Order: sequence, then structure tokens, then C-alpha cells
Amino acid sequence: MIRLEALGKRYKSVEVLNRITLTVDAGEFVVITGRSGGGKTTLLSIAGALTKPDEGAVYIEGIDILRLPESELAALRNRKIGFVFQFPSLIAALTVLDNVLLPVAFSDRSPNRTDRDFAESLLEQVGITGKNALYPSQLSGGQQRRVAIARAMMNRPSIILADEPTGDLDETTEAEIMNLFQEINRRGTTVVMVTHAVDYAELGKAYVLKNGNLFPYEGAALPASAARGATAAAPAGSVQGEVL
Ligand SMILES: Nc1ncnc2c1ncn2[C@@H]1O[C@H](COP(=O)(O)OP(=O)(O)O)[C@@H](O)[C@H]1O
Ligand SMILES: [Mg+2]
Repeated sequence: MIRLEALGKRYKSVEVLNRITLTVDAGEFVVITGRSGGGKTTLLSIAGALTKPDEGAVYIEGIDILRLPESELAALRNRKIGFVFQFPSLIAALTVLDNVLLPVAFSDRSPNRTDRDFAESLLEQVGITGKNALYPSQLSGGQQRRVAIARAMMNRPSIILADEPTGDLDETTEAEIMNLFQEINRRGTTVVMVTHAVDYAELGKAYVLKNGNLFPYEGAALPASAARGATAAAPAGSVQGEVL
């Protein structure tokens, strides 16, 4: 489904990813954890064709995406990948329903009746009802995140990439959103989720991103102090700039 080969990425003198190789099979739920500033967002955005690595290869369903022209790459991203970003990313000027319909508007056609019905059913599935005509600012943080998840599902992607989708939410809402991702995965969508909350490493196949490399996550192998550091390091909305 996704194959990352010997990915390298550096920003100026900082080596963020050091020849990372990872295979994500269809239907898997992969969790990537690690300290703030460790390169998780960078890795996810390379896997989702939003950022180019300095070296290495990215295959999505067997397609060597770094060799695609930008227009084909954008189309592949739009069709196959749903993103749930780290920070609230709904468009303030659009209603809830139109936000969910955005991926259709970004493909080569206007939303039709069927799209609207599907968007409404997605909103129901994520627990948002009776709010389709409201604007994002009229929703709570958790509700906005649910709308973002519905939007990520709009083009029926085979892969959902989620970057700390619960970092800014309270514990109860966080658990509900995690259940939602599990449900999406059970229905057949491959999920790759980045989280700095190690509690969720139990959800699927888990890795730690450390010193630019991925290691299989084993609860006991990550010192409690590192886990605490990881959880405490990035309050919602903070600027992430630290280096390992
Ligand atoms: N666009 C960028 N320009 C320069 N440095 C960046 C950029 N994006 C990320 N970095 C740096 O790369 C490192 C990893 O960042 P990031 O991938 O956001 O880590 P994480 O998501 O694990 O917190 C950090 O040191 C960060 O400052
Ligand atoms: Mg990040």
C-alpha cells in the first residue's frame, strides 16, 4: 500500500530522517510515535506526497510517486489519500457541509447530489448531525476534528494519514476520535497515525521515530521519562522547533 525506501530529509544542517524504510500493508493501522521535533510530521507529509525527500523512494500502491509529474501527483493524492492534519484545518468561510465536500471540488468536477448525500452520511458517521449549515467557528474543537475526518473520507481514499489528530482535545473526546479511526480502519481503510501520546501505540503496528530512524515500539523499550517528555513537549498550538 505504502512503501518508503531509504528516505532521507534534512533541513539545513539538521538531519530529520536518516534513511527510513517502512512498508505499510493494505488494511493496517500503523502508529508512529516519538518526541516532538523528531520528524513525525515530515515523515507523514513525505508518505502523503506533500513534501519531497532529499533521497529515497516513495511508492503508493506500487506507483513511484516521486517520478510523477505534479498534476498526476496531485490527482493521486486527491483520490487515494485522506489527510487529517495536526492543527484545525477547516476553511472558516465554508459551511460544515462544504468543508466536507472540498475534496470533490478539488478534483475535476463540481459536487453533485450524490456527493452531498455521501457527505451528509459521513457527517452522521462521525457523529455530527444538524450542523451541516454551520461554520467551523460555531463548533467545538472535537466537532471540528470530526468534520476534518469526514472530509478526509470524502473521496473514499484507500489511505488515511492522521497527524496527531487528538493532540488538542480532552481525554474523552480523544478516546472517541480514536474509536472513530479504528472503525474507519475496520471498514478497510489503511490508517497511518502519528501521535505523541504513547498510550495509543497499542492500537496497531507501532513504531518510534528516534534519531531519524524508525524502531518497532515496545512499551518497555521507551523509557518512561522519554514517554513523559514526548507527551509534555508539545502543547496544542505550540511552535515545534526542537531538535532531538
Ligand atoms: N519546513 C521546515 N523548514 C525547516 N525546518 C523544518 C521544517 N519542517 C520541520 N522542520 C524541522 O524538522 C524537525 C522535525 O520536525 P517535524 O517533522 O515537525 O517533527 P514532529 O512532527 O515529530 O514534531 C524539527 O527540528 C523542525 O524544526
Ligand atoms: Mg508534528
